[in-house]
Amino acid sequence: MDRIKQPPMPLVRVVEFVRGALVVLHRRLVPGPIALMEMITAGWLTQAIYAAANLGIADALVGGPRTGAQLARAVGAQEDALHRLMRLLISHGIFTRDARGRYALTPIARPLCGGSEVSLRDTVLFFGSEIHRRHWTHITDAVRTGEAVGATLDGKSFFEYVEDDRETGEIFDRAMTSISTLTMGPLLASYDFGRYRTIVDIGGGEGLLLGEILRGAPRSRGILFDLPEVVANAPARLAEAGVADRCAVASGSFFDGVPPGGDAYLLKHIVHDWDDERIGVILRVLRTAMTRDSRLLLVELVLPENNRPHPGKYIDLEMLVNTGGRERTESEYRDLLARAGFTLVRCVPTASPDTILEARLT
Ligand SMILES: C[S@@+](CC[C@H](N)C(=O)[O-])C[C@H]1O[C@@H](n2cnc3c(N)ncnc32)[C@H](O)[C@@H]1O
Repeated sequence: MDRIKQPPMPLVRVVEFVRGALVVLHRRLVPGPIALMEMITAGWLTQAIYAAANLGIADALVGGPRTGAQLARAVGAQEDALHRLMRLLISHGIFTRDARGRYALTPIARPLCGGSEVSLRDTVLFFGSEIHRRHWTHITDAVRTGEAVGATLDGKSFFEYVEDDRETGEIFDRAMTSISTLTMGPLLASYDFGRYRTIVDIGGGEGLLLGEILRGAPRSRGILFDLPEVVANAPARLAEAGVADRCAVASGSFFDGVPPGGDAYLLKHIVHDWDDERIGVILRVLRTAMTRDSRLLLVELVLPENNRPHPGKYIDLEMLVNTGGRERTESEYRDLLARAGFTLVRCVPTASPDTILEARLT
């Protein structure tokens, strides 16, 4: 995977600040009901993007602009209905339509292509999927009980569900890999992984991130660890990244044990999946595998203490509904780690909403 050029962090922060200020200004200027209505219909936009991804509209436009009739034929849609879908998407900058009525890609539409450098196609296919929508229908129950909805709806936890139902599981695994393509560049640009001889990616999915880390750290070796059915596709991915000879693949449950001997134990978007008690178990398992020189690297959407918008505030509800986990603030991470015998050494921000929390054994 080629690396996208990363913007400098101060610029990212200024843009975020200006954007936040404009959002606040807009909300103060428009009447409350109008501002609320916009937010109420925001979910329909997700579904419209889902339809575009499902139909493969972006992929059909990779070769260049197409008329409505050509596009409808290419994606198997009814032309007028497709026009109505495109009209909404275009109003949000997703696709354009020129004076001759031909549809084309925009920078926001391009990540809907399957093969693009940063592809969010599989992400939206999961967020628009039947199971995801069914679970979110029950968010009120989750808020009433504080429990994820899967146990009641499916008779099992989310991860048990995707382990058993491999059709859904594969959509989920691809979605996780897809989200990783978004945050990968900023992550690699912000941290020197090359200083570790052996990097163990715990819950590393299909190995996309570890493959890219090893590609940029030619003297390091890796161990990818995840559930057996999840790592099934990993050897092919690692070979694609050209690092298969430096990366072992191991499987099992991180509640039972993880490979020992790593210099760095990387857990990206793992801690947020679990409540404090379950994560305490995982951290204690990690302790037994680590030495005093090893480092624990958590990659998470650390929540700000302020009331400004932050992607972590959405994912926090996703965790409430689906996994029973939660997003946390820096001080909550510090306490969580301390209770399990770790000291938070430093927090490294990235140009994406992810932060790297580096910890060592206390
Ligand atoms: C939210 S995904 C994150 C995947 C990857 N680290 C990333 O950021 O793209 C959580 C991962 O934890 C894995 N996982 C869930 N339960 C596990 C367990 N008991 N043992 C090992 N891995 C597990 C899932 O298979 C999944 O790959």
